Amino acid sequence: MVKYWEIETEIEKGYLYIMCGIVGYVGEKNVAEVLTKGLSSLEYRGYDSSGVALLADGKTKVYKAEGKLQNLKDLLATKESEIKTANVGIGHIRWATHGVPSIKNAHPHTCNCGKLAVVHNGIIENFKELRAKLEAKGCVFQSETDTETVAHLVAQKYNEVKDLKEAVRLATKELEGAYALCIIHQDVPNTIIATRRNAPLLIGVGEGENFAASDVPAIIEYTKKAIYLDDNQVAILKADSIQIFDADNNEVKQKVELLPWEPIALSKMGYKHFMLKEIHEQPDVIRNFLSGKLHSATEPIKLDEVKLDKLKLKNLNRIQVVACGTSLHAALVGKYIIEELCEIPVDVEASSEYIYRKTVTDEHTLVIGVSQSGETADTLTAVKQSKARGSHILIITNRPDSAMAREADSLVPVNAGIEVSVAATKSYVAQLMAFYALALHLAEIKESADKDEIQTIKNELLLLPQKIELLLSKTDKIQKCARMYSSSKNFIFIARGINYATALEGALKLKEISYINATGYPAGELKHGPIAMLDETLPVLSIMMSGKVYEKILSNAQESKARNARMIALTDSTDEKLDELFDYVLNVPHVHELISPIMAIVPLQLLAYHIAEFLGKDVDQPRNLAKSVTVE
Ligand code: M6R
Repeated sequence: MVKYWEIETEIEKGYLYIMCGIVGYVGEKNVAEVLTKGLSSLEYRGYDSSGVALLADGKTKVYKAEGKLQNLKDLLATKESEIKTANVGIGHIRWATHGVPSIKNAHPHTCNCGKLAVVHNGIIENFKELRAKLEAKGCVFQSETDTETVAHLVAQKYNEVKDLKEAVRLATKELEGAYALCIIHQDVPNTIIATRRNAPLLIGVGEGENFAASDVPAIIEYTKKAIYLDDNQVAILKADSIQIFDADNNEVKQKVELLPWEPIALSKMGYKHFMLKEIHEQPDVIRNFLSGKLHSATEPIKLDEVKLDKLKLKNLNRIQVVACGTSLHAALVGKYIIEELCEIPVDVEASSEYIYRKTVTDEHTLVIGVSQSGETADTLTAVKQSKARGSHILIITNRPDSAMAREADSLVPVNAGIEVSVAATKSYVAQLMAFYALALHLAEIKESADKDEIQTIKNELLLLPQKIELLLSKTDKIQKCARMYSSSKNFIFIARGINYATALEGALKLKEISYINATGYPAGELKHGPIAMLDETLPVLSIMMSGKVYEKILSNAQESKARNARMIALTDSTDEKLDELFDYVLNVPHVHELISPIMAIVPLQLLAYHIAEFLGKDVDQPRNLAKSVTVE
């Protein structure tokens, strides 16, 4: 394992590949087209260079390009005559955390004779030792990557055993770390060898053609049938057959699953960006989440996904939630609502902090992992650590087919549909819904909250989709506000109580897609330091939803006004006096205070979107970010 204290040095050396996407295809279609289309749909995973290797005219041919995938597509368009006979190929998009992405470091990587090519997602942690051994045996390395060791190692084994699957199986026994690999060899026509350990890879099952990919979007246009490889399994893909072997070389029975995605989910449906489409999908995401769980405010919420029996639920003494980024913000709202309704203490911690200290969890602790992708390495590690200590693991995820979901004792899928934009929007709202459902479920079992209050919350949840639709139907003022403040270099979001998380999430959305420095503060903290920064250039956006802290935050906003800050309010109040205090008032429909984070985040997502769009930023694929982060 790369230890946390070594990560920085590894990053400096350019060795850490946080994401990357892989596609493999064997069949009669235009191979280059299938691979680049597949890579396009995986661009959200990372996109600083790309490449493909194809077997055409009996030769392994490799093409790579730096920068956007379009550069690779342009290159391949000039090579049509060289590659038209190809019927097998592998492709890769790479996203390195540090160091200049280059053609040399882009995948596929080959062995010295050039016959074998490999694409890889993950990190080979013992690559230095392997590289030294391979160099001692005469291998000449062309790149600085860990992946190239795999190419040389497998080629060497192949020369010994003359069986590509066996060569891969033996070579991977020597690898430490995480990998999803697809390998082709010019002496083994019409074949891809695919294998994985701690990195996602699925096999798409077609008719007279087969696929391998890091994620569903790369294959969904062609097939809805897939096999999820287990760790250390090795698959042989040919156009008309798939065979899978375990680490001990026993052939295993294939479990073909039906993918829940529709190709339409991957289209922008007329919106300029996926992010805007995904923001507009939120009312349906809420309806979808509630269907089958809550029909009327007078019925108990149905959350059969929670597998702890009533007695254990009643005896829970603590809940710990681990998550990263936007999912962490959803967890903060979850903490508030669970503590408010269920009288159970809840700790929320960034997974990356949680995993490197002594944490106290036991069989009486419920540990909740929250993750859109279900693949975030830090959260996955945190969950595994807690599971080993005997805690019940509840996973809230948008990907019930993910590695994290497989660790769950209780799995709560949020069913937001595929989220393409790197900036999480609808998955956040869906995660919030999962926390509301869980809090209501626990409160009903423990009888820890006032029945009328529970009924009011349920009623409000049922009404929420229409109210958000109303908000989404009139966004001119948000767009105007976005234009007005798009030249700001810094932004402050303040809130209190349950909406503190909304301030953090609003600031994160703005940072990640517009690159404006934005910070969320609990409004009461302003005068303990941040207020020193306020002047007439700094916008302060106050999130003022009606409820017990409304007046408090109004006073905090007045403190900002007194320092000449540029004043923006986000509120469900209709108090006309607000127009005197604020330069801009963004109104949202009124909701119950405990539900307000779901309503309040929508205009902040839109504000971030329109600022980034106005500034001409790459909204769906912001620089330096990847949709899911699969190594620590
Ligand atoms: O897939 P996860 O929810 O585990 O991902 C966690 C974060 O990487 C993610 O929320 C990230 O912060 C997003 N870019 C936020 O928009």
